[in-house]
Amino acid sequence: MNPTRRAALAGGFALAACGGDGVSASQKGPAAPSRLAPFKDRAAFPVGVAAMTGQLAEAGWSGLASTHFNRLTPEWEMKMEAFLGEGDRLDFSRADRICAWARTNGAEVFGHTLVWYAQSAPRFERLNGSRRGFAEAYRTYIHDVAGRYRGQVTGWDVVNEPIADDASGQLRDCIWSRNLGQTDYVRLAFEHTREADPDAVLFLNDYNLETNPRKLDGFMRLAETLLEAGAPLTGLGTQTHADCALPDGAIERTVRRLASLGLKVHVSEIDVSTATGRPERQGAIFAEAAEAMAALPAEQRFGVTVWGVRDSDSWLRRADWHRPPQPDTPLLFDDGGRPKASAQAFGDALG
Ligand code: G3I
Repeated sequence: MNPTRRAALAGGFALAACGGDGVSASQKGPAAPSRLAPFKDRAAFPVGVAAMTGQLAEAGWSGLASTHFNRLTPEWEMKMEAFLGEGDRLDFSRADRICAWARTNGAEVFGHTLVWYAQSAPRFERLNGSRRGFAEAYRTYIHDVAGRYRGQVTGWDVVNEPIADDASGQLRDCIWSRNLGQTDYVRLAFEHTREADPDAVLFLNDYNLETNPRKLDGFMRLAETLLEAGAPLTGLGTQTHADCALPDGAIERTVRRLASLGLKVHVSEIDVSTATGRPERQGAIFAEAAEAMAALPAEQRFGVTVWGVRDSDSWLRRADWHRPPQPDTPLLFDDGGRPKASAQAFGDALG
């Protein structure tokens, strides 16, 4: 998500007089629909949701997730912070629990994410600057993780957020680019993942592609560079962390541009904050994502993943490393798990 926007939420966002869920009446959308047919039964593509191990045993979350969604993206359990959070030993226990829940509930799992500028681990920090050792540790990590989940995940965000979130359209500088090369760290990540998993769809994923044309251009340039280098890039993901001020057509234009390379397309993390713009637009924005995906050729429709079930499950409602919890209603079900009008609009658009 755009840190500028996040900072605006933290800094400029006045804590309005809020109800029990911390959201003022003016931020809530229209009334909820009475009955809602399962999203996964209505869509011509998988409908995913972010999941965390702490939610799996919670009936309210589990009931909605198993009813409406047929793909899970671990919200943090398949990241380096979870696999290597305890130092040097790979801990697969959290990710394994999400995979087990998915198997029990007939859902796929999408792996998020192998390489991200935002996270590293001691084993890489120790090798920072020693190219050969770093390259070997990089390859080993990707092989160990992607190899373990071969056959359990249908795809990976191999590299997440490679493009700088500014007007440059340049690649970010990070520990991976400094040790392996600006685009070579990306190419190598795709090659190593394909070596470990011959079948998964391999994605490049980023955010603010709907609102930053230079960033979208840089993302597409990187994708074309990878394809020209023969990297096994087979999917492009747009996170779509949006708000209610997002202009009409922005998602549709972005999805169409991503699809222009003929790869699979994933709207990978959609939520629509009601802290900015007119809350009654939330349903139309979710619906646009569904319609844009449905309009793609069948072989390119990887799916739409919503970044949480209930408003209270949203990362936007949790304290982050640099901001307090925010009152917000960014998802399709309210804090009590009741479908909102935006859930009805999204469901109608899936069909
Ligand atoms: O709950 C655990 C706790 O049990 C554990 O001891 C502790 C150890 O660090 O971690 C706690 O989990 C936290 C988790 O959120 C659940 O609250 C992690 O610390 C925290 O890092 C994690 O934050 C996630 C963040 O990515 C960083 O991984 C957010 O949930 C997640 O919504 C956010 O998602 C990102 C996407 O990956 C990329 N696109 C932007 C999106 C939003 O920032």
